[in-house]
Amino acid sequence: MPDPFCSASTWERMDAQWPSHEQRTLTCTCVRAETHDVRTFVFSIRDGQLLSFEPGQFITVSVEIDGKEVSRCYTISSPPTRPYTLSITVKRTPGGVMSNWLHENMRAGVELKAFGPSGVFTPSSGPAAKSLYLSAGSGVTPLMSMTRAALDLGLNRDIVFIHSARTPVDIIFRNELASMCALSDKLRVVYVCEAPGSEPGWSGPVGRLGMDLLMEHVPDYRDREVFICGPGGYMDASRKMLVEGGHDPARYHQESFNFAQTVECTEEPVAYPGAEPAGQAGYTVQLARSGRSFSMDGSQTVLVAARKAGVPMPSSCSQGMCGTCKTKVLEGTVDMKHNGGIRPREIDKGMRLMCCSRPTSNLVLDL
Ligand code: FES
Repeated sequence: MPDPFCSASTWERMDAQWPSHEQRTLTCTCVRAETHDVRTFVFSIRDGQLLSFEPGQFITVSVEIDGKEVSRCYTISSPPTRPYTLSITVKRTPGGVMSNWLHENMRAGVELKAFGPSGVFTPSSGPAAKSLYLSAGSGVTPLMSMTRAALDLGLNRDIVFIHSARTPVDIIFRNELASMCALSDKLRVVYVCEAPGSEPGWSGPVGRLGMDLLMEHVPDYRDREVFICGPGGYMDASRKMLVEGGHDPARYHQESFNFAQTVECTEEPVAYPGAEPAGQAGYTVQLARSGRSFSMDGSQTVLVAARKAGVPMPSSCSQGMCGTCKTKVLEGTVDMKHNGGIRPREIDKGMRLMCCSRPTSNLVLDL
């Protein structure tokens, strides 16, 4: 029998579809303080519509700040098993335009716009009976969504969750994770703190995640599917440690973009590594839903050409990683060089990422 937790179809509610290219209005229903600088913002959709997504996916939220539209990706921290609301959990970072705006302005009743759920960092990317979740800082959010979903379904899955934080007071979801461990004898949570900080009596591990700690708490780590999310340096070091320890790299899954480096929608996309300039032929791009159209040559990505023509198109990373710009090509062909932001089954259905696709004919897009 297929494992429901690791099947994308489990989460695909036909009555709650929210395509990643569709922008909707979310209304904040409440704000929760998780730590001294991390808050969870809970949203609902107008008229009580249900929300469908896979645990581990993210949304791209947009707000106008000082007259300029700013967009950021945030992983959904709530599970799809609670489909009436959706939460993001955001750390306030010094100089962080969006995080500071959210912390200062978001309260019950305030609205923002968001593009639908996207991303391939989900259980269906690595079906397995035994998992190892590794997170650092606010990288805990996608793994929290997965853990909550597993427990809500009563699956009692074999999960070891190692979360790294600066100090004990920086541990996000600490009380909830403790409660979840009490409910499930197969969920184990280990916190690793860089320093004991101001909490008296901290008895957990101090330092950084290393092989000694991994062997002590997860001696069977080679048998587990690894999902990891956190700062780039943390993920790089963990990956190296696992590979050197004999873990199969094919069973390693990491969130493919760094939230801290997510670009704003108004920026130009970066050059895609290895992309060769295509021909200079003139092509027409028609948007079937809006009725708009623009001309471009084959040397640009469709996203860049759309921006130059003043045509709005959803995007976030602009590097073929996040999936926000995923669009169905109804007619025509493109040369796409992506970076993991789209699944083979989506390509089979005619979807393409506009930030890393160059036309090789006239196009009609489902936008
Ligand atoms: Fe991220 Fe295109 S904008 S994949």
